Amino acid sequence: MTRIFVLARRPVGLPTIDDFDEISKNDEALGDGDVRVEPMVLSVDPYLRGRMSDARSYVAPFEVGGAISSAGIGKVLESHVDGYRVGDLVRGEFPWATSLVAQASTLWKLPVDQDVPPSAYLGALGMTGLTAYVGLVVLGQVTSDDEVFVTGAAGAVGSVVGQLARISGARVVGSAGGATKVEQLAKLGFTAGIDYRSSDDFAQTLRAAFPNGISLFFDNVGGSQLEAAIHQMKDFGRAVLCGAISQYNDTQLPSGPRGFEGFVVRRRLRVQGFIVSDHLALYREYLSLASQWVRSGQLQTLETIVEGFDSLPSAFLSLFTGGNVGKMLVRVAI
Ligand SMILES: NC(=O)c1ccc[n+]([C@@H]2O[C@H](COP(=O)([O-])OP(=O)(O)OC[C@H]3O[C@@H](n4cnc5c(N)ncnc54)[C@H](OP(=O)(O)O)[C@@H]3O)[C@@H](O)[C@H]2O)c1
Repeated sequence: MTRIFVLARRPVGLPTIDDFDEISKNDEALGDGDVRVEPMVLSVDPYLRGRMSDARSYVAPFEVGGAISSAGIGKVLESHVDGYRVGDLVRGEFPWATSLVAQASTLWKLPVDQDVPPSAYLGALGMTGLTAYVGLVVLGQVTSDDEVFVTGAAGAVGSVVGQLARISGARVVGSAGGATKVEQLAKLGFTAGIDYRSSDDFAQTLRAAFPNGISLFFDNVGGSQLEAAIHQMKDFGRAVLCGAISQYNDTQLPSGPRGFEGFVVRRRLRVQGFIVSDHLALYREYLSLASQWVRSGQLQTLETIVEGFDSLPSAFLSLFTGGNVGKMLVRVAI
């Protein structure tokens, strides 16, 4: 039997554990081109919140009663497909299930590399890392002259953004929730960190951190931090908008950021939103660069691993309360 987590109902506001249901199904037979995979590590990501609602977006919503799915690393259990052998490690979009059947053509075989843990291909060496690279390097065109501000800096994408900015020689300040996370930013080589939760006047704290202004802003959280950053941009600055996790559970459209258009026009800012799936052609280029940075110790693959299949819903929920440092992952099998 296969255990599967399905969406029990569409969450309203902050999701709860009751929005998920566990069901069991008989194992499926393999068809032509199929392999059976046992997921070992599954990724939980903020964007899954969007897929739980039925609002129009860049990716189809989950069906109520249908399996939740996300990126995962798994082990091939059974295969009649050339090139896929029992025990091979593969990455794919997997249902939250204890076993699954997938078309081999939808899977990516992990490189055999003893120096890198397989889970890194879900984080710094996977789509998370590519997101940071596309936003900061390709669209943001970071240089050593930049003064970079990144929000959600201790999270999956943010922790890579900060390290890539440091590798490029830029000055980089990150914001994160709590003193422990800010200490972590220092270990990753950020120039400075801001604990946005303990800051009484975030806008003032940001002005002090960037007396000459922000030249490149990478935003993961939206809301009041986005507003404060836009107000503190240099003339001709670039703002790359990656995500807005502070608003994913809002039930009404937010009223800010205040003064946005005025600052964008007067400071002649370039503001660019992006979705990583539009840039998958850059993955090879990124993986080659990032693998070298990981081997040389310049890029740390920071992750929080929660143990056990049962923990999938709670690990996802804890993204909204800051439960992770680096990439949030769930180990569902050894
Ligand atoms: N555009 C794309 O293609 C793309 C791709 C991947 C991710 N994203 C987006 O990028 C952002 C980061 O994604 P990720 O995968 O790296 O996740 P993540 O940063 O690891 O997400 C979890 C973190 O978000 C922070 N957070 C939660 N609620 C918050 C709030 N109300 N205000 C401020 N911070 C809050 C928490 O950190 P603290 O403890 O510091 O608050 C938490 O640890 C998300 O918005 C995501 O949707 C976009």
